[in-house]
Amino acid sequence: MIRRPQLDPASFEFLLQRLAPANDANLRQAAAGALGRAELNPEQLLHLAGGPLAHEDPLLIASLLEAFRKASSEGAGSALIAALLKSPVSIGEVAGKRLEQLLKNFSPSVQAGARPLFARLRQEQRGRIERLRKLEPLLTAGGDIGRGRRIFFGQKVACASCHTIGAEGGHVGPDLTAVGAIRSGHDLLEAIVFPSASFVPGFEAFNVELATEVRSGLIVERTRDAVVLVTGPHSEERIPRGQIRSIKSSSVSLMPDGLDESLTQAELTDLLAFLQSQKSRQDVLAMRTR
Ligand code: HEC
Repeated sequence: MIRRPQLDPASFEFLLQRLAPANDANLRQAAAGALGRAELNPEQLLHLAGGPLAHEDPLLIASLLEAFRKASSEGAGSALIAALLKSPVSIGEVAGKRLEQLLKNFSPSVQAGARPLFARLRQEQRGRIERLRKLEPLLTAGGDIGRGRRIFFGQKVACASCHTIGAEGGHVGPDLTAVGAIRSGHDLLEAIVFPSASFVPGFEAFNVELATEVRSGLIVERTRDAVVLVTGPHSEERIPRGQIRSIKSSSVSLMPDGLDESLTQAELTDLLAFLQSQKSRQDVLAMRTR
């Protein structure tokens, strides 16, 4: 059994404060993760649904949803659905799929209440295909590479928490140092707008089923005794084989959905210009001098 800590009122309040939009992305993500893993009491769940959840950005909703993993009460269920229906941001494909699983614990009436939410999700999906088509002109709109670099390495969408370019960045996702040379502009746009549309080989996500929960992530190591799972930029877990019921590949990328929606059109144009310019100049120079 994975132990899930209960939260005293002070710790709960502390984590809620850390979720504030003014804080940096890593801090917020860590707080959302801690809230999601915690064993919240009914009052705390209602509080979460009543406030923070409705205003959260899509990056954090998936983590916060986990807090409802063991909930089944009518109150918590309706508050959760009401919050998501009210939320100005889409919960996205990943959180949507997780929500579908979580709702199985709730009464038919709570599940029925969620129908408009799923209808909205499907409609959004159609809308996003359209969106991709509309965003294509940004690829050639003359974005600023320097500004794009600052977005990539900045806090707002935190690309570098998972990706390395040059010598800097994280290793959850593929190294993007030469991505402009190996991917077309269209592929780059699709990778950002629809991360789950295709997977980079070696970076497929897996669902690891434990006794009471399913963990999703990249498997970075398999030994006879354990599996090492990376579930996010700062979270790596070693799961003993004895705790694992099944390991199945997941259709959902570890790269968050909807990052493009957190950027303005101008920011996205700059980011795309920066990515397209990543043609690994060093390699090219090395080849020329050979
Ligand atoms: C939580 C980690 C995470 C964050 C944050 C993240 N990514 Fe990713 N990204 C991944 C993973 C994992 C993959 C590989 C799986 C896949 O293809 O979906 C990936 C794949 C990609 C690819 C496809 C690479 C290829 O070779 O085709 C691109 C491009 C990309 N990410 C760009 C970005 C950009 C730009 C941002 C910031 C707006 C970003 N990523 C934020 C984890 C992340």
